[in-house]
Amino acid sequence: EKGNHRHFMEKEIHEQPEMIGRTVSHYVDAFENRVHDISGLDFRGASRLVIVGCGTAAYAGEIARYWFGSLARLAVEVEIASEFRYRDPVFLPGDIALFISQSGETADTLEAMRLAAAAGVQTLALVNTAHSTIAREASLVVPTLAGPEIGVASTKAFTCQLSALACLAVLAGRHRGHLDRAQEAGHVASLLAAPGLMVRAIESEDEIEKLAQGIAGYPTVLYLGRNQYFPLALEAALKLKEISYIHAEGYAAGELKHGPIALIEEGMPVIVIAPHDALFDKTRSSIQQVASRGAHVIALTDPDGASALAGEAARIVTLPSGSQLTSVLLFASAVQLLAYHVAVYKGTDVDQPRNLAKSVTVE
Ligand code: F6R
Repeated sequence: EKGNHRHFMEKEIHEQPEMIGRTVSHYVDAFENRVHDISGLDFRGASRLVIVGCGTAAYAGEIARYWFGSLARLAVEVEIASEFRYRDPVFLPGDIALFISQSGETADTLEAMRLAAAAGVQTLALVNTAHSTIAREASLVVPTLAGPEIGVASTKAFTCQLSALACLAVLAGRHRGHLDRAQEAGHVASLLAAPGLMVRAIESEDEIEKLAQGIAGYPTVLYLGRNQYFPLALEAALKLKEISYIHAEGYAAGELKHGPIALIEEGMPVIVIAPHDALFDKTRSSIQQVASRGAHVIALTDPDGASALAGEAARIVTLPSGSQLTSVLLFASAVQLLAYHVAVYKGTDVDQPRNLAKSVTVE
């Protein structure tokens, strides 16, 4: 039931603080601020983590790649299932393979998992549907607790995937001796604080809704981000495409000069994910480059970023500041709300966008 929401997607966006809280609680001990060990999962001897999924699930994997690298010094390869399964992939001794799927029924992801299993690789399934084929066939299930997701465009399943992946990256960091007790406690405490921060991020909805009109009339939109916010830019663009039918592209901000800057013309919406982190000045210079060519810049940032950008970006949305693991969750809710309100403004069928199915059980 939609309750007092207009669409399931809106309801599911608003449910996210609760669902990410549930998901994190499953993985952590909130009294000790530690991640639970998972029986049968040991990152100590892993040489590589191979992550496979489709669409939004694959983008969750791309974001987590930054975390496994930085917290656990674990090399990660992320690939979309439809490519992975047909390229005769190379497996290495010590590989662990992780398959991400909300439905647990996506045909390409399932076949990719069967391929890894046949090669003798341990298969983990990060799924939202406990009684699904992928869950049944995996060597180990790591759940997301998002509850049923009805809207075709994935929202709460995505942020729950990120929450679970963050917990797994902390676990890997501990297993591999790269996080000490205090560092682990700091990461876990930040994950436990994420629901409260996300409630505040979602309070920016009215402000975000006001930006929708300026985007709805334009045929193409560019999303920019760096670091883990680059794959989030890809996800943001996918969300806008799916439900508003506006062409959108996500780019790594550092790639701007290698091509996409040629697209910039007067009035083109460019949405920049710009947290005030170590790379902020680089992102800020991307904002200046597109703004000076007439782009209509919308910067999604945090309080420090907002003061630094005052007068530079045409529009600034200020979200609470999060941690290395949680701020991407806050930005995710903002880009979902933006796509949602553009679609509502355009009057599309938000929960059932044309040509799309919730579960892709055929190739
Ligand atoms: C995007 C979206 C799709 C799915 C993809 C994988 O909003 O929903 O890109 O993420 O089809 O589906 P699952 O996770 O069920 O394997």
